[in-house]
Amino acid sequence: MIKALKIAALSGMFTLAAGVAHAACSTEIAKDDLTDAQAAELYECIEGKLLEGYNKSGKAVAGEYRNWFMPSTTPFISATHGKRFVNHYINDIGRDAYMSFNEDDLVMPVGSIAVKESYTINKKGKVRRGPLFVMEKVAAGTFPDTDDWKYTTIIPNGKILGETGTDTAKKEKFCHDCHEAVLDGQDVMFFPDEDYRSASN
Ligand code: HEC
Repeated sequence: MIKALKIAALSGMFTLAAGVAHAACSTEIAKDDLTDAQAAELYECIEGKLLEGYNKSGKAVAGEYRNWFMPSTTPFISATHGKRFVNHYINDIGRDAYMSFNEDDLVMPVGSIAVKESYTINKKGKVRRGPLFVMEKVAAGTFPDTDDWKYTTIIPNGKILGETGTDTAKKEKFCHDCHEAVLDGQDVMFFPDEDYRSASN
């Protein structure tokens, strides 16, 4: 047993750094008190499972988004998305427009897809998977109620919780209810918290 543990430690499976235990995917530090580096470490322990779950949805975006540009530098707590840690991604079509962080007259091109993957730390300090939040700009006139944005939420087991334009659209209504606050000037894009924005290239 002890020998096995030593081997695990040597091979890097058990990395105990400042209270963050890798192998167990858990921490004794309260969520709000985690440093950026600690939050990023906990992400590393969950990312494989996160992707596996999203991919069960069969949605192309789940298989693609990890190759896209990241507008956020490192995971940060999103107050508006269940106080989960999030990472932002933007596809090539939307990248230049999004990364301008233009708050005056932004127009996102049709085909832009912005995605946020998420995870959280529960009360026991365990890392838990969170939903994949997806927004896609579709052709003018497609979804007048949501200003031609299609919202999709993929929960960690790959199920679709809600999707604009389908019979689960109601579940996504609250997304646009909030995002439309920045329709004028920002084409409903909120952008990552200022402290966590990547440089544009
Ligand atoms: C109460 C307001 C609010 C609600 C409700 C909300 N969002 Fe957001 N959303 C934000 C804010 C603020 C940001 C940017 C900062 C952040 O990530 O926390 C954001 C960012 C995003 C982004 C990255 C693109 C961008 O705007 O910069 C996506 C994708 C997204 N949200 C999807 C969703 C989906 C899908 C839902 C519904 C399940 C939803 N949001 C509900 C406020 C909200």
